[in-house]
Amino acid sequence: MSKNEAPGTAFDRRLSALAARVEARLEEWLSDAVRPGEIARPARLMAAMRHGALGGGKRLRPFLTVEAAALFGVPEKVGLDAGTAIECLHCYSLVHDDLPSMDDDDLRRGRPTVHRAFDEATAILAGDALLTLALEALADRVQADADVRAALVAGLARAGGLGGMVGGQMLDLAAEGRYGAPLRDPAATRTLQAMKTGALLVFSAEAGAILGRAGAGERAALAAYGRAIGAAFQVADDILDRTTDAATLGKATAKDAQKGKATLVDLLGMDAAIAERDRLAEEAVAALAPFGPAADLLRDAARFTVSRRS
Ligand code: IPE
Ligand code: IPE
Ligand code: MG
Ligand code: MG
Ligand code: MG
Repeated sequence: MSKNEAPGTAFDRRLSALAARVEARLEEWLSDAVRPGEIARPARLMAAMRHGALGGGKRLRPFLTVEAAALFGVPEKVGLDAGTAIECLHCYSLVHDDLPSMDDDDLRRGRPTVHRAFDEATAILAGDALLTLALEALADRVQADADVRAALVAGLARAGGLGGMVGGQMLDLAAEGRYGAPLRDPAATRTLQAMKTGALLVFSAEAGAILGRAGAGERAALAAYGRAIGAAFQVADDILDRTTDAATLGKATAKDAQKGKATLVDLLGMDAAIAERDRLAEEAVAALAPFGPAADLLRDAARFTVSRRS
């Protein structure tokens, strides 16, 4: 696996260019202007949603959607609208993940968490409204046929819900030992991580296949890529929690052990966790074989997952 990407690689430039476009879309979607069908946009809720969604984040999920869609010739604008919707759902998941009743974090993306900057009730509502905005945007704003938009809405709701992210968050809290014995099993930990983090990353890549009306084989290849990058991503997150400082990461560190979180770092040891992360990133790269060099930026994204510092 390659070492850190030097600033200015093609991947870095592409990630930051797309991040700027995602930011611009979020600015527009979260502007004061009341949209047709809405009655009003309460200022405090808007401000909290903007705090939770704007001005930070790697925007990796929209990157995956745009680049996967590009494999099938989908215009960047269309991929960006879908990717920005997925990013809205991701931002909601972070706002709720940080709540006092969940991970109880004060810092996110280098700034106070939404419930610290506002209050807990406002953070819950801001998360709720980012989630519903995500689904509305997929249904309404993406320039694609109705069957494609319906598949996107269903896919995001599934990835973000009971059998995906939300379900994984439930298992994650249970694994701390809140509702019974703490979880000490690597296989069950991998399952909960595939749900809480993997599902949305899988869907981010699959959304590109949906937009591009990809064949079953191509879609399966992108889903396999998403599963591997998703698993690598959470192991990397758990490693960074142990090895980095809050200033670099933009969120508190050394939290997982303190909370008794189930992580592979804890269960397998640091060396084995690093080996698993790197093996998964290679697996993600290998899954893209059917696409040839056209998928090089997606391969770089898998390597970035391993080398990232924040
Ligand atoms: C953090 O996700 C939460 C996890 C799923 C581990 P990211 O590391 O993608 O967070 P941002 O969006 O870049 O802040
Ligand atoms: C978060 O996992 C997964 C989500 C669904 C938000 P973590 O709790 O490890 O994410 P961080 O470390 O707070 O970003
Ligand atoms: Mg958490
Ligand atoms: Mg957390
Ligand atoms: Mg973490």
